[in-house]
Amino acid sequence: MTDIDTVVRDLAAARERTLHLTDLDEPELLRQHDPLMSPLVWDLAHIGQQEDLWLLRGGEAGRCGILRPEVEQLYDAFTHPRAVRAQLPLLPPVDARRYVAEVRERVLDRIGDADAFEVAMVVSHEQQHDETMLQALQLRSGPALLGAGSPLPPGRPGVAGTRVLVPGGPVEIGVDGTTEPFSLDNERGAHTVDVPAFEIGRVPVTVAEYAQFIGDGGYARPELWTDRGWQVRTDMGLAHPMTWHGDGTRTRFGVTEQVPGDEPVQHITWFEADAYARWAGARLPTEVEWEKAAAWDPATGRRRRYPWGSADPTAQHANLGGTALRPAPVGAYPAGASAYGVEQLMGDVWEWTSSDFTAWPGFTPMLYADYSAPFFGGDYKVLRGGAWSVGPSILRPSFRNWDHPQRRQVFSGVRLAWDA
Ligand code: AVJ
Ligand code: FE
Repeated sequence: MTDIDTVVRDLAAARERTLHLTDLDEPELLRQHDPLMSPLVWDLAHIGQQEDLWLLRGGEAGRCGILRPEVEQLYDAFTHPRAVRAQLPLLPPVDARRYVAEVRERVLDRIGDADAFEVAMVVSHEQQHDETMLQALQLRSGPALLGAGSPLPPGRPGVAGTRVLVPGGPVEIGVDGTTEPFSLDNERGAHTVDVPAFEIGRVPVTVAEYAQFIGDGGYARPELWTDRGWQVRTDMGLAHPMTWHGDGTRTRFGVTEQVPGDEPVQHITWFEADAYARWAGARLPTEVEWEKAAAWDPATGRRRRYPWGSADPTAQHANLGGTALRPAPVGAYPAGASAYGVEQLMGDVWEWTSSDFTAWPGFTPMLYADYSAPFFGGDYKVLRGGAWSVGPSILRPSFRNWDHPQRRQVFSGVRLAWDA
């Protein structure tokens, strides 16, 4: 397949997912499910607006697009905070659907002249908004709209709480356009880092492990929290992960059920991840440690494309793509292990790291210049790995996500690390 064939396939997959997630009644699409999230109809038209801007107008916002300027500006994420988007005179769902279809038709008409990286960038944007829409649907109250999720492989006993040693030594962190042509600006460039030896959890922290922290008074012991973390815990009234009810049950996408003990814990803030790690006598991994554990192959002295090797992700390797609606139990993906034997690095839950979001050496903004750069040095922590909710075509071990440390609408979990 040429690069263009690949991105045309990925465009179609992203759109199928977007249309599925917005195949809802008008009131559901117009409703603000939570102040942290946009109404879904905003995400839908914003997906089209970005595709129009980057692929039909080469990023020149001054040039006329399909929408009138006063309508198009409603979809500028920097101008309108999420909390107020439901009050804007947004395109109604029918018009939003027609708009995204028309943009896509024009893009495909001239796809022969397109730059494959720029198309991949737009695919990544759409897939990321599909994940954002899943966050909104998780925060929504009311009967289930998406069902209970597709089947997942069973876990393996004995892996929870176990660790893997990653010996010290230099590795290549980040990627270049030559090896990963679709990598986004913040993943570049490749650079050498000497990483001291450390240990890392073979799998993410489970619900059962996290419940022990709660049972041991983890939320009531300030010494386990940073000062700011304790303040956030108090202000937000944190007592357990989001979606839990405190009686061993949770409501997940409208379905109420027991929280499975062998599932990676999900929907926790960075502060909870950090307090849990302190309670467990561990710490969060740095993002560099995480990437070494995921991508480095000490036998060849080179990076692997994926933790398991070069094969594209399949259902044997990782829980990705968004249909499961939950993480898989720990031990479910032995075929997805990295060279060091670390499992479930990709898929299941985004993993909080101790790292602030900063530029790698040699950073150069891409066409969508405000994708990463405005956020460097802000109040953001890096999350790695990608959750069950991520479209597989956009994910690599170098992929970097970020959010504020007090956020937990993200499908976020935690993997522990220790100094060796
Ligand atoms: C990379 C997930 C933090 O949602 O704010 C979507 C992705 N950027 N549209 C976000 C993004 C612009 C971004 N994250
Ligand atoms: Fe966006």
